Amino acid sequence: MIPLNELLNAMQKAKDFLFAQIEKGASKNQDEIAPNLQKKVSLQHFDSSRFQKNIHIYSHLDADGLSAAAIMAKMFTRENIGFQITILNQLESQYIATIAEEISKYNRFIVLTDFGSGQYEILKEKLKTTDFLILDHHKPEKIDNPPEINHINPYFYDIRGEDEISGAGICYLFSKIMNEKNQDLAALAIVGAIGDMQNNNDKSEFKGINQKILQEAMNDRKIILEKNIAISRTRPLIQSLIYSLPLEIEGLSGSYDGVVQFLNRINIQATDELNHSRTLIDLSEMEKKTLTNALIQYALVEKGISTDDIKKLVTTFYILTDFDPKISVSDAREMSSLLNACGRRGKQGVGIAALLGNAEALTDAMSEKKDYKKELSRAIQSAKKQIREYEYIRTVYDNTIDERIIGTICSILIHSDLQHDKPLIAFADSDNHFLKVSSRANRELLDKGLDLGIVMRKACQQLKIQNPAGGHPPAAGAKIKTAHLKDFIEKVNEFVKEQIG
Ligand code: C5P
Ligand code: ZN
Repeated sequence: MIPLNELLNAMQKAKDFLFAQIEKGASKNQDEIAPNLQKKVSLQHFDSSRFQKNIHIYSHLDADGLSAAAIMAKMFTRENIGFQITILNQLESQYIATIAEEISKYNRFIVLTDFGSGQYEILKEKLKTTDFLILDHHKPEKIDNPPEINHINPYFYDIRGEDEISGAGICYLFSKIMNEKNQDLAALAIVGAIGDMQNNNDKSEFKGINQKILQEAMNDRKIILEKNIAISRTRPLIQSLIYSLPLEIEGLSGSYDGVVQFLNRINIQATDELNHSRTLIDLSEMEKKTLTNALIQYALVEKGISTDDIKKLVTTFYILTDFDPKISVSDAREMSSLLNACGRRGKQGVGIAALLGNAEALTDAMSEKKDYKKELSRAIQSAKKQIREYEYIRTVYDNTIDERIIGTICSILIHSDLQHDKPLIAFADSDNHFLKVSSRANRELLDKGLDLGIVMRKACQQLKIQNPAGGHPPAAGAKIKTAHLKDFIEKVNEFVKEQIG
């Protein structure tokens, strides 16, 4: 059978399993909401008319996790199944313990989205199989054949969760099995995939199941593709060209006069009749073509930029037609970064509601994003001063950085002017003398065979660290006691050496 069909078959069984669980069993304390969890956001929809159990969705804090939660929210609402959502930075042991308590006390059924596979063993130890369902795309600890009914993951079917389908994508496929109507959520799955950088290639193209999902979104005109210069679509044209070109072009980047002269030369007005700044989306199709061609010509002929780099000047925008085209988040990439900002600033509910089209939430989310940008730029400056060199890794530990943004800081730094020869391992203070660990590697290191997911897991296993660690080859994380820091760095250095030394 083809892998996608196998995956869908498993989902069909998982759906029946879910209904079997929530339709049976007497409920206790049905109207009570589960106990407060830290960093919790609650979006509730309780209607227990037909079902004995309410559902508690736990999802991951990033843009993919929030998109996954939004899809599930819409799906359960459509089925009239009560639910509550909690967003966690990571599914740590302490949360799993609280979940176990919640199940017995409040008779909940748990759905874990965009995480869970990396914690399957501990989940199985603490909960009954019949109490939870995992819809994840992170590489499982071990690839079971056949997998258990409550564990959906593309890797069981030879489908790469790294770039062929996201957590939101898995939830989307599941939601369509629940109800064909949910096909109108395909664009949300694309927002999630972009959040996980699954189209992170020269042409920003999707592959595998992501490509099929994109096609469905396009067939329903929920997404339209727009090839255009890779600058902001909604900032004033002059500013966009000065500040947001994807590569440095001498004479334009950073130069107001240069950009103004360039636009004059090609006869494109930077303002309209009312003297309002024009943006990329205000240009006519003809003007867009002129601008793109002139820019390529200028970079290639006058500045001698290589054809490989020139390709970066043009990109595909994925336009979300449910949003006003004049606002930045009608671009799926911007939407995903909006969600990310909301997540990292603890405003997950606002992000989910914005994605689902709530206008007030959208306004709030945009203001969160501004604050988030400020917070990031301060943190990057601060982190740069704390970088330490080891033989095979670099580390950064900055106790002024929030644990929710340390992963992002680590990602930005690994793609900054740091040398490309070592992965970066970043630490931030967490509660109760724990540290949140984030690690990132660039393409060169991956090509040499580095897998940070394995490195993190092995280091934690060796130090008998209870919290499950994990992730993908280029990005992985862990949670360790502050007291373990020195030993942990030593182990990570050793395992990176083993892989690429
Ligand atoms: O937290 P951070 O952004 O650094 O995580 C990088 C990747 O590692 C994410 O995909 C995350 O889900 C995964 N991860 C994990 N287990 C952890 C920490 C992170 O699977 N304990
Ligand atoms: Zn994900």
